[in-house]
Amino acid sequence: MAKSRTVWVCQNCSRTALKEMGKCPNCGAWNSYVEEVAAPSVGPSRQTASARSEPRRLSEIEGDPWERIPLPMEEFSRVLGGGLVPGSLVLIAGDPGIGKSTLLLEVTALMADYAGPALYVSGEESAGQIKMRADRLGIATDNLYLVTETNLSAILDHVRAIQPRVLVVDSIQTTYNDALDSAPGNVSQVRDCAAAFQGLAKETGIAVFLVGHVTKEGSIAGPRVLEHIVDTVLYLEGDAFQAFRLLRSVKNRFGATSEVGVFEMQGDGLVEVLNPSEAFLAERMVNSPGSSIVVTMEGTRPLLAEVQALATTTSFPNPRRTANGVDYNRLLLITAVLTRRVGIRLSEDDVFVNVIGGLKIDEPAADLAIALAIASSVKDRPLAADLAVVGEVGLSGELRAVSQLAVRLNEAAKLGFRRALIPKTARKGGDQLPPGIEAIPVRSLDEAIDFALRK
Ligand code: TYD
Ligand code: MG
Repeated sequence: MAKSRTVWVCQNCSRTALKEMGKCPNCGAWNSYVEEVAAPSVGPSRQTASARSEPRRLSEIEGDPWERIPLPMEEFSRVLGGGLVPGSLVLIAGDPGIGKSTLLLEVTALMADYAGPALYVSGEESAGQIKMRADRLGIATDNLYLVTETNLSAILDHVRAIQPRVLVVDSIQTTYNDALDSAPGNVSQVRDCAAAFQGLAKETGIAVFLVGHVTKEGSIAGPRVLEHIVDTVLYLEGDAFQAFRLLRSVKNRFGATSEVGVFEMQGDGLVEVLNPSEAFLAERMVNSPGSSIVVTMEGTRPLLAEVQALATTTSFPNPRRTANGVDYNRLLLITAVLTRRVGIRLSEDDVFVNVIGGLKIDEPAADLAIALAIASSVKDRPLAADLAVVGEVGLSGELRAVSQLAVRLNEAAKLGFRRALIPKTARKGGDQLPPGIEAIPVRSLDEAIDFALRK
């Protein structure tokens, strides 16, 4: 009988070693190695002579061979690349409590109704608890099966018995293979179980969703380890205290990445937000100082968001800067440029910046909006209600071009904005700008402030 052997695995980068390492030679993480017992190997190679691969000419291979099961939930469908591919393994990762179970229960119920039976395996909640959630979500389908189970082989037995089209495993961290010695949630367990589901998906054509929790300290034995094994990785993000949730694709073997879907957590579940720009601007107070509207890109999708700023006299020796939804260092840079290049002194002011709706904006194209919101607060003068802005601010106070200008302006025009401040350099490429919105090119932050805040 083959003997099982012990290896050590870095939880950060999955590198293996024969002994424990203090520091990982590959990724540099400290104390990241955990012991893993490899399962005894079964025979020489799994691939038999009959299953040998056969090279074919590229020209003879048909493209996009995936027929997709359309999802009756547009936001979810788009993130997957236009529907669910049978036999695909999809990881949905996110903080505990963000809404992963809620979203998947909704989706599987919808799929069960017309794609065929669905099986929801929970290792975290009892069938009664899930039933209560289903009632809250208004789910009434005969084709959805629930079971509370954490043992891998028992789950596979249920799958064989029910033969679902869609399987949900909630969560991969609670699932364990009893042939391994390590505890559930351990890297070896997580990886082994995920590989088993990948095999199942490819063999049977069942679409499998895995739920993975990410922990605050990084991702111990979590989604990171799984990213290589699964076909698609989706992150469900958002602020637990805010209603909006973004579903983001970071890896997709069957479609484009960086797509986002927007949802709102309501009393009866996660509801898709088909017009997120409108939702993010819903509570906007026009003509109030310290607010500006930016058109930001989330993947290929333009989103309008409100940036708010408040500058107020500090009572501390060192004035404070608080950034919510924008990068803190970016905020420091912008306040420095405002001080040195525009002459707006902020050394005795606390500055708070907030993006409405719990949205996080990473791209520098929001610089101009942040700068204008701060300037507007300092001067106590509002920006025009029909003005949207985009532009990166450079250290000399110059405005730099942003990508996808036409798409951004189009979205602004759709929501009724009539004018947009854009960087002057952006016009050179000859980007066809959409009608219905006047693009006002400005060279520098100084010029932009002059235009936006003149009396
Ligand atoms: P859940 O799906 O259990 O999160 P996860 O599986 O990611 O851990 O949902 C968590 C939160 O969602 C929970 O705190 C309550 C809230 N919620 C609603 O606000 N409305 C609803 O209809 C449901 C089902 C949950
Ligand atoms: Mg859950």
